[in-house]
Amino acid sequence: MVKVAVLGYGTVGSGVVEVLEENKEKINLRANEEIEVKYILDLRDFPGDPHEKKVVHDVEMILNDPEIRVICETMGGLEPAYTFSRRALLAGKSVCTSNKELVAAHGPELLRLAKENHCNYLFEASVGGGIPIIRPMNYSLTAEEIDSIIGILNGTTNYILTRMDKEGADFEEVLKEAQEKGYAEKNPEADVEGYDACRKIAILSSLMTGKYVNYQDIYTEGITKITAGDFCYARAMDKSIKLLGMSKETPEGYMAMVSPCLIDKEHPLYSVSGVFNAVFVHGNMLGNSMYYGRGAGKLPTASAVVSDVVDCARHLGKTVTCIWEEAGVKLMDFERSKRRFFVRAKMEGLDRAKELFSVSEIMEVIDGEFGFITEIMTEAEFKEKADAFPEMISRIRVEE
Ligand code: HSE
Repeated sequence: MVKVAVLGYGTVGSGVVEVLEENKEKINLRANEEIEVKYILDLRDFPGDPHEKKVVHDVEMILNDPEIRVICETMGGLEPAYTFSRRALLAGKSVCTSNKELVAAHGPELLRLAKENHCNYLFEASVGGGIPIIRPMNYSLTAEEIDSIIGILNGTTNYILTRMDKEGADFEEVLKEAQEKGYAEKNPEADVEGYDACRKIAILSSLMTGKYVNYQDIYTEGITKITAGDFCYARAMDKSIKLLGMSKETPEGYMAMVSPCLIDKEHPLYSVSGVFNAVFVHGNMLGNSMYYGRGAGKLPTASAVVSDVVDCARHLGKTVTCIWEEAGVKLMDFERSKRRFFVRAKMEGLDRAKELFSVSEIMEVIDGEFGFITEIMTEAEFKEKADAFPEMISRIRVEE
């Protein structure tokens, strides 16, 4: 019997209890152990809830109970989740988490503590919700030299961009509706500014390199400046605009960023719509592979947490290898990374565009302006030209 405590009885925490109950037989069979929730930690009481008797308010009851072997940390945020997770691991209790902020900030230290204390720190649900991506990176792709990861890692922004694309609507309009329907948070900053996707690509980049990629070093741009006009051009070019998190090994070093990008209809990420997420991984032997599914939501995310509980039950007293050293990776200077840019400009800037960017082909999609795609150049080169181009309306990076 493996006794489990759930920290935080919110959306994901209550989902964990539900998944464990609903799929009990299969889960126990696969874990080769009976898994039972003994405690649920929350500040609130839940009168009438079938599990109300398991609710406790004092974490010490859990941390000091030798029967508890696995903790599901579904609280979110850095504190007290960080302190509770450290203490659990130091006490030899495995921790399974959906908390990407915590994993991105302290993952390598928590993994080290797990190893030192013969238990596990598992975080399948921290990236891509219910999509299996951490375990493939950590188990299935271990024969690969992974050189590129590109992901649609945030459901809220993918939903907003999909609606903008399909309906020709503007960002603010779709965001407001998404908030009314509960698809976007009341404070949507972490999603729309790309911070959530940044933490997720930081975690994937760390698994790709085996070292710590600090999310604060990753260039991050959100979708707030994307307009209905941008989508008019995207459609004219048979492209779409997606918020991509990417990490690539280049001859100049590791490049990581989060940014809205134009992608072609042929790109496998083009058809990832609505709240769905996908992660596109390139390995030197396998080539391309893609992992697709629900990147958020109660049961998909809880299912990923429970899959980690099963892994812990299968490895009691043993640590599953996860290479993620505390030593940091120095990302290349983002200004030196190269790509094409799509530019929109006022019609009176046509001569200057030709001079600055050697433009040969322009698109006229909206009255009074034109659009074009640049040659491949560095971010720094583009910035210099853009600074000398007052007629520029906007620019979007192009992913090829
Ligand atoms: N806010 C996140 C999203 C939830 O929209 O994808 C899952 O991390």
